[in-house]
Amino acid sequence: MPAPAPADKAKQPLADRTILVVGAHGGFGEVLARACARAGAQVVLLGRRIPRLNKLYDALEADGAREPAIYPLDLAGATPDDYATLASTLERECGRLDGIVHCAAEFKGLASLENMPLDDWFTGMHVNLTAPWLLTRACLPLLRQREDASVLFLIDDPEQLSSAFWGSYGVSKHALLGLIAILRDELANSPVRVHGALPGPMRTALRGRAYFAEDPGSIPLPDAYAKACVSLLTGGPDAPTDAVVKLQPERANPPRPLGLSTFSN
Ligand SMILES: NC(=O)c1ccc[n+]([C@@H]2O[C@H](COP(=O)([O-])OP(=O)(O)OC[C@H]3O[C@@H](n4cnc5c(N)ncnc54)[C@H](OP(=O)(O)O)[C@@H]3O)[C@@H](O)[C@H]2O)c1
Repeated sequence: MPAPAPADKAKQPLADRTILVVGAHGGFGEVLARACARAGAQVVLLGRRIPRLNKLYDALEADGAREPAIYPLDLAGATPDDYATLASTLERECGRLDGIVHCAAEFKGLASLENMPLDDWFTGMHVNLTAPWLLTRACLPLLRQREDASVLFLIDDPEQLSSAFWGSYGVSKHALLGLIAILRDELANSPVRVHGALPGPMRTALRGRAYFAEDPGSIPLPDAYAKACVSLLTGGPDAPTDAVVKLQPERANPPRPLGLSTFSN
């Protein structure tokens, strides 16, 4: 495919790229997949629910996106061989890979470390930490073939996650920061940029499982953070170089009125 003209490059900064969105039918994954497609990328949608992947595929096609691809995979059960197959399929079917965004996350709800079921501990640590690493590891040879490639791990507020009851979600997100630091150092002389991407609170199923008493209308939709994530994938001379990049919301999402009467004297 010919390189996009400069004017198109401004509108479609990901025009010549293939981006793998992991957890593509989640709250943030879906809006990010749509934003990457609007930015011109070929998007590979990875998730564990085929009907939801199909629905998103149809929505992207209806939006006029470049033909997306679907890759059903459950990160809880996937093995290193499965990730090797993913990488070879991407190479065969797409011919390249320019970026991975890890949006999948396992979080069953708040629980003390002492009382959380051991299965939840193992699954949380695996899906949030080990699986993203195994997937990235398998895809690194493909990413290294590009002049500029990007791996983004969605992280969560470490200060918040240092308090009680965040369980394996909290521990795995802390460990992810260590993975990001070490991997960045090891890839410092490679074309692969590695970042932790930190959004603010987003109105998604995951947030609802922790903050069940809050008014969801007061929390921004995940759409607010998609553009910042696309620009992190795009890179370029002005791109942030920090290990953790706080995603700036595109627009303030004004809290929805609560419908309470206003009293005045
Ligand atoms: N929401 C927030 O306020 C917030 C704040 C800071 C950081 N983050 C981070 O942002 C990222 C996206 O979170 P979100 O809020 O969009 O959460 P979400 O709506 O719950 O989406 C998470 C996605 O991960 C998928 N997933 C879970 N286990 C999986 C597995 N074994 N295999 C494949 N996919 C699996 C879920 O699939 P199912 O739909 O099948 O369950 C879902 O699609 C996460 O890394 C989260 O830690 C979120």
